[in-house]
Amino acid sequence: MERVIVFDTTLRDGEQSAGAALNIKEKLEIAKQLEKLGVDVIEAGFPISSPGDFEAVRLIAKEVRKPIICALCHAMPEAVDRAWEAIKNAAHPRIHVFLSASDIHLVYQLKKSREDVLRDSRDMVARAKKYCNDVEFSPMDASRTEPEYIYQILEGVIKAGATTVNIPDTVGYAIPGEFGNLIEGIFNNVPNIDKATISVHCHNDLGLAVANSLEAIKRGARQVECTINGIGERAGNASLEEIVMAIMTRKDFFHLTTNINTAQIYPASRLVSELTGFVVQPNKAIVGGNAFRHESGIHQDGVIKMPITYEIMNPRDVGLPSSSLVLGKLSGRRALKERLAELGYSLNEEELVRAFTAFKELADKKRKVTDREIESLVAEEKRTVSEVYHLDRIQVTCGDRGIPTAAVSLVDPKGKVLADAALGTGPVDAVYKAINRIVGVTNKLTEFSVKSITEGIDAIGEVLIRIESDGVTYTGRGADMDIIVASAKAYMNALNRLLAAKKKAK
Ligand code: KIV
Ligand code: ZN
Repeated sequence: MERVIVFDTTLRDGEQSAGAALNIKEKLEIAKQLEKLGVDVIEAGFPISSPGDFEAVRLIAKEVRKPIICALCHAMPEAVDRAWEAIKNAAHPRIHVFLSASDIHLVYQLKKSREDVLRDSRDMVARAKKYCNDVEFSPMDASRTEPEYIYQILEGVIKAGATTVNIPDTVGYAIPGEFGNLIEGIFNNVPNIDKATISVHCHNDLGLAVANSLEAIKRGARQVECTINGIGERAGNASLEEIVMAIMTRKDFFHLTTNINTAQIYPASRLVSELTGFVVQPNKAIVGGNAFRHESGIHQDGVIKMPITYEIMNPRDVGLPSSSLVLGKLSGRRALKERLAELGYSLNEEELVRAFTAFKELADKKRKVTDREIESLVAEEKRTVSEVYHLDRIQVTCGDRGIPTAAVSLVDPKGKVLADAALGTGPVDAVYKAINRIVGVTNKLTEFSVKSITEGIDAIGEVLIRIESDGVTYTGRGADMDIIVASAKAYMNALNRLLAAKKKAK
C-alpha cells in the first residue's frame, strides 16, 4: 500500500493558537512524543518570528533525530537564512518557504503583483535549495487563488528545487469536492509535478479541515499537514488523529497507510492538552472523553455481546488505557511506574521518586487514584522543575461574614523564604494579591477556570489561568485537592513563565 506522509505542525501552526504559548522545554517534550508517535515531519517553528522560536527549533533539531525537522520561513532572504541556521544540525532538515498567492492577499496585504510572487517564490526556493536538499513551498491562500496561477507558481518552484508543494486552505474556505478538483488540476496541469510530492494544509473554519484533507488524499496528495487535537490558528488545523484513524479504519476505501504508531495517539493528545491548557471537548472524535463511551442501554448491550456492533475502532488501538480505576494506597513504586508507562510517560529516576511521593500523599487522602489523577500529578511535578519562585505555603480565611484574607510564603531563587498577606474580594483574589506583593510583576488576569479531574467530592481540582503582561499571554496550570491551593499553584506557574520570558528577553 502507498504511504501518506504525516507532517505535524502542532509546534508551529498549533502553537499559533491564541493563548497556547509553550516554553522551549514543553516544545521539546511534545517533539519527543511526536517522534514516538511516528510522524514523518515535525514543523518545529518559524525561526525568524522570535528568538524563542529560533531556540526551540534549534534544540528540537539537535535532540529529535528520527523525523524530518522542518523550519518555516516567509519568502525573504533573511527568513530563509534564519530557518537554515536553526535546523542545520538536524539529522533530516527541511526548509518550508511560503508566500501568499491569492489576489486578495496580493492586493490588500502584500501590495505585490503576480509577477513579483512568481519571481520571489522561485528565488527563495532556490536560496533554500543551496542550503538543503529537502525544500517545501506553500502558495498561501491557495484555495482562493485562480488555479491556473497556482499551476504557474508550482511549475516555477519545482524547477527551482522544491521537493514538496503544499496547497494550503489557509482560511478554511474550501469544500471537499472543489478542493479535490484543485489537487487533480495540479496533477493534470503542472508539467513537472512528478518531481514533487503534493501536500495539503487545511484549516477548520467551516469544520471541513479533515474532510478536505481526506478528499485531497483520495485524489493523490501524499503529504497531509495536521496537528494533535486539531489545534491551530482560529478554528484550528486538520486533526492528526482523525485523519490517521480514518485512513486506518477505512483501508478498504483509501488503500493507503501511514507510519503512525496509533497506540501513541492518546498519550500525545493528553500531553498537548496538558501543556497548552486547551481542553479536549468530550465529544471530540478519537480522543474525546466520550469517544468510546456507550450510554444507551441498547448500545451497551450490543458492545458487551460484540464490540463491533457499535465500535468501529478498538479503543486500545488509539492508546486508551485499558482501565480507568487503578492504583491505591498500597500500590508500590513499581506499579506506579508500570501504570505511567501504559499511559505513555517515561520518567527518569528522580522524576519517578517525586511523582511517587506525590502519589502516596494523594493515595493517603483517597482510596483510589485514577489515571487522570496520576497524569495530573506528573504534570504538577514537571511544572515545579523550572520554577523561579516556589510556592511554600498558603493560608486563607474566608466566609460570608469576614473579609477574605490570605497569607502566602514563597521561596525565592536564592532559597530565601518571603512572606506577605493581603485582603481580597474572595479567597483567590486575596491569594493572588499576596503573591503580587512578593513578586511585584504587573499583569492582568484574563482567564480563570476550575474543573474537577474525576467525579466525587474528593477529586483533584485543576485550575487553568491566563495572564497578560506587555501584550503577551502566559498560561498557568495547577492541581490540588484544595482548589484555592490549585489556584495559587496555577498563578505561580503563569508568573514563573512570565519571569523566565522577561529574564530571557533582557
Ligand atoms: O495556513 C497556512 O497557509 C499556513 C502556511 C504557512 C502553510 O500555515
Ligand atoms: Zn496554517
